[in-house]
Amino acid sequence: AFVIGEPCVDVKDMTCIEECPVDCIYEGERMLYIHPSECIDCAACEPVCPVEAIRPAQHVDDRWRPFQESAKSAFDVLGSPGGSTKVDPPIEDTEYVKNFEKH
Ligand code: F3S
Ligand code: F3S
Repeated sequence: AFVIGEPCVDVKDMTCIEECPVDCIYEGERMLYIHPSECIDCAACEPVCPVEAIRPAQHVDDRWRPFQESAKSAFDVLGSPGGSTKVDPPIEDTEYVKNFEKH
């Protein structure tokens, strides 16, 4: 799966959402979250983000890893809605993202 990291926080450019063929990018209050099991690894979202906030899981480093965990926990309650069009945005940010201090 692909993972959205820190550069998206408080930026939310939203271009990525238009690219995803399976609507697995969900809008939160401060950032967007890619559903880890609904993402089909099509990679269409990665190049369109103007702040390079999207990475494939195999390129997740120490800076991205907490956001990978965060994206998993974002769907603990929601489960797998089967696409962002099935829920009313925004979804609730994770505790990690709510408390994240942007530098
Ligand atoms: Fe965020 Fe980039 Fe999408 S800033 S909303 S990941 S286009
Ligand atoms: Fe969608 Fe990006 Fe995955 S476009 S399917 S979230 S790689």
